[in-house]
Amino acid sequence: MEVYNHDLVILGTGLAGLRAALEASQQSKGELDIALVSKLQLMRAHSVAAEGGTAAVMRQDEGDSYELHAWDTVKGSDFLADQNVVDFFVHEMPKEILHLDHWGIPWSRREDGRIAQRPFGGHTYPRAVFAADKTGFLEMQTLYDTLMKHTKKINRYDEGFVTSILIENNRFAGLTMIDMINGRQVLIRGKALIIATGGAGQIFGFTTYSETVTGDGLAMSYRAGMPLKDMEFIQFHPTGLIPSGILMTEACRGEGGTLLNNTGERFMGTYAPSKMELAPRDMVSRSEMTEIEAGRGFPGPEGLDYIHLDLRHLGRDKILERLPLIREVTIKHIGLDPIEKPIPIRPVAHYTMGGVHTDIKGHTGVENVWAAGEVACVSLHGGNRLGANSTAECLVWGRVAGEEAARYCANASVADMPKSAEQEWAKIEALLKSTGTEDHYQIRKELRKNLDATMGVFRTGEQMQAGLTKIRELKERYKYISLKDKSLRYNTDLERAIETGFMIDVAEVATLGALTRTESRGGHARRDYQVRDDENWLKHTMAHFTADGPKLDYSPVDISMWKPVERKY
Ligand code: FUM
Repeated sequence: MEVYNHDLVILGTGLAGLRAALEASQQSKGELDIALVSKLQLMRAHSVAAEGGTAAVMRQDEGDSYELHAWDTVKGSDFLADQNVVDFFVHEMPKEILHLDHWGIPWSRREDGRIAQRPFGGHTYPRAVFAADKTGFLEMQTLYDTLMKHTKKINRYDEGFVTSILIENNRFAGLTMIDMINGRQVLIRGKALIIATGGAGQIFGFTTYSETVTGDGLAMSYRAGMPLKDMEFIQFHPTGLIPSGILMTEACRGEGGTLLNNTGERFMGTYAPSKMELAPRDMVSRSEMTEIEAGRGFPGPEGLDYIHLDLRHLGRDKILERLPLIREVTIKHIGLDPIEKPIPIRPVAHYTMGGVHTDIKGHTGVENVWAAGEVACVSLHGGNRLGANSTAECLVWGRVAGEEAARYCANASVADMPKSAEQEWAKIEALLKSTGTEDHYQIRKELRKNLDATMGVFRTGEQMQAGLTKIRELKERYKYISLKDKSLRYNTDLERAIETGFMIDVAEVATLGALTRTESRGGHARRDYQVRDDENWLKHTMAHFTADGPKLDYSPVDISMWKPVERKY
């Protein structure tokens, strides 16, 4: 085993990870020795796929306000967001937009030269700052370039597949990592750890996520003793391209695109007359599914019946200027030009509202571990996230975690050599030698199909119980998997097998949380419990790892600003 020591270890190199690295680096005037660890090449983190925008209050002089952004977020969350967290967020966010501006991001601009903003679902003001429809990519690029300018001591572990987070005596003691290039076993130690590995969208079959988003950080944190919070709340984005699920950004509707059923009707008038297509995502997704189930969709491949997203009336110039990526993707993937034809779409798994429990500063409760971005659940989004609040969250809590962890590192030392690393390597070696008869690719396939069928836009207790039974069957079968590739060099068979184990754990937590929550709230819509039940369920689900499966308990929601009311749009 090779051992490397650093000050700060950052696991994940998407927006939150890069923002954390930049902040920690700036705090220490470039002196902090930082490890950036990613199973990908750095700029391939899934954040590059974020398209439509980043929400911030930039126009108080033109009618927006912090209070309005906070209210939209809390109402959008179906009152499960912690309101103190939301309040902090809305005040921090404009600074992040301006930092990026000063660092050189090409924000789209208005005629008068000010930063442009577009409407997004659930926001009562056009609040999404954007760079055409390539916002995430350009934010990533800007953060990376700026980081390179500031740091003296960045150590990149690209294509380093981390298999466990070692916590001993409530302190981070190391990451066990397989160097994919040569299969070497590596232990990465540091004074502090920031987990920024993103979500778990690949547990679904029809998803906007890239193949790589397999919930690794969620599962490793959970196995290491950090509770996962509110994992039953999965966001379905209303516009996933048929048949791949590729994101058709909400900016399509922000720029004026409409949703049409098979009679050509703009059906959102029935469901959210004041907001229409720009109601929050949970509502738009439910409306689409209701139309499809009532036979007003279009027949699609493999049961993927769909709705039309119509951009034609926006005109060529606007589509080319504001939505160039959408056009490029639809032409490339389905041979359809949205200037001429409506785009076939349907709700698609897009975001994990839950995550590793943290406090308002991103601290996990383990002395020297913070989490930021989608992997974390600081409780900003509650039961349903508003569009454009995710890249924003990555920036705010990337910064906060970077600052906090850098401060910690200034007076800390690396924990003792972990005793548990050898056990982890023994497990991996056993997997490499295993002669079991189960195929982990097949298990992954069945898992994703199962989640699609049982944890979708609408749920029932019966379906979720069947889903949980299936997950537990897969968990049992997973014990008997074997690998075809027994070599060490770039062994993606091994990587996929371990990822599938992570996915099973995350799916089990999400499904158990959903089955237990006998109400409907935000993205968790049950046909058998259709009403929000604040008396019994205005609380966060906390899932704790045990050898026998997740153990649930609950924690209170901060409602210091607004009492919950009925959610109408
Ligand atoms: O639709 C989008 O561009 C996605 C944005 C988001 O998830 O915040």
